[in-house]
Amino acid sequence: MNKPVEKGAVAYQSISVSPLAGALGAEIGGVNLVTLEDDAVWAEVLRAFVEHSVLVFRDQPIEPADLMRIGSRFGPPSYYPFVTGMKDFPYIFEIVKEPSEKVNFGGAWHSDSSYLVEPPLGTVLYAVETPSHGGDTLFTSTYLAYDALSEGMKKIVGSLTGVFSAELKYGGGRTKMHQSIGAMKIHDTDKAAEVGAEHPIVRTHPDSGRKALYLSRSHTVHFEGMTEEESRPLMDYLIAHQVRPEFTCRVRWSPGTLTVWDNRCTQHNAVNDYHGQRRRMRRLTVGSQRPV
Ligand code: SIN
Repeated sequence: MNKPVEKGAVAYQSISVSPLAGALGAEIGGVNLVTLEDDAVWAEVLRAFVEHSVLVFRDQPIEPADLMRIGSRFGPPSYYPFVTGMKDFPYIFEIVKEPSEKVNFGGAWHSDSSYLVEPPLGTVLYAVETPSHGGDTLFTSTYLAYDALSEGMKKIVGSLTGVFSAELKYGGGRTKMHQSIGAMKIHDTDKAAEVGAEHPIVRTHPDSGRKALYLSRSHTVHFEGMTEEESRPLMDYLIAHQVRPEFTCRVRWSPGTLTVWDNRCTQHNAVNDYHGQRRRMRRLTVGSQRPV
């Protein structure tokens, strides 16, 4: 196992790294992602990704082809199973909420596609159009959530496996997703029950060596070997615990903001507080990786 990475232990030479909060997240300055080719600078960006889990880049004029290139620095692209991608860029899809709509995409705490056997290690999200205010994304550090548990609870959760399913969100389960949101084409919801996996409730990040909680109301059905009813009290406790304010940060978007987050040690929640305004984002997931 790798030695745990300590935040800020080694200074950055080519980029500026300004933490967003005490818990996680950093704004990165001094880079133009579209023209950035220098491997040494990319190595610093990737180090910041491991240290801060959520990276925000401002004022980046990024086209879909650029997004593919930038995303591939974090991992190979991975398909999202339930939303049709952009023409010519099938790995990228647009998240759109129209002024007339009330439902948003991603408006509940989750780690992306954790119902897959090999969920994406990261998600890259680029803001094209943003509301004048609102539409922020909240993030929480599931490292800090794990670290804050008592030794007794760490022992219990460390022995648990979670049963994950896309059915909860896409198949009419407890966090049911609508069949379409604005211009987004949601498909294959009838197959959601077939999309599932079992993962450890505590996973170890392969790059930092740190342990993180890995469960959500959106994707985790129950603990393996236990009924839903038996699992619920502890699941409810952990799900509420892992989003305590001191574990979180908040990203405010404007057109040209790109954020990349680490699904292995964070969860996020798109705040739905901008009814009457349009929000349009481009989203790419990267690096399929089995949680261990
Ligand atoms: C998502 O959950 O992938 C969407 C996040 C957002 O739109 O802020």
